[in-house]
Amino acid sequence: MKVLVIHGPNLNLLGARELSVYGDLTLDEVNARLRKEADGLEMELHIHQTAREGEIIELLHAAIGEVEGAVVNPGAYSHTSRAIADAIRAVPFPVVEVHLSNIHAREQWRRHSVTAEAATAIIAGLGAGSYVAALRFLKELPR
Ligand code: DQA
Repeated sequence: MKVLVIHGPNLNLLGARELSVYGDLTLDEVNARLRKEADGLEMELHIHQTAREGEIIELLHAAIGEVEGAVVNPGAYSHTSRAIADAIRAVPFPVVEVHLSNIHAREQWRRHSVTAEAATAIIAGLGAGSYVAALRFLKELPR
């Protein structure tokens, strides 16, 4: 099973950025954990990180016919991007939105995600575990 993983803006700075909110794992360490999990689930991951809204949309489009699911952390675009929400609606595979932090326990403006309105599911607040839980969920979905 092929799965697309997209880390959005500022997630390249994990391990250095707001440690009390996002924890001390670097993005490479998060990805290593995901690859280990994926091996056990017999999944092939295609992992990308980008700060660009349009690139997130293009990665989703390019995955049509290529993957059976996606795990996306749109970062702050979650709270603003109707374009990413529409791209999520446009793809035929399930998209799980993930957040390292519990966005519902943070500033008011972070408590709503417009991209999650379009997603199959949202998992927030488990740190890197949010991504791991998303992979397990995708594996369990009937195909
Ligand atoms: C985040 C939460 C967003 O509000 C924030 O802008 C991020 C990271 C998270 O993973 O907790 O960049 O998506």
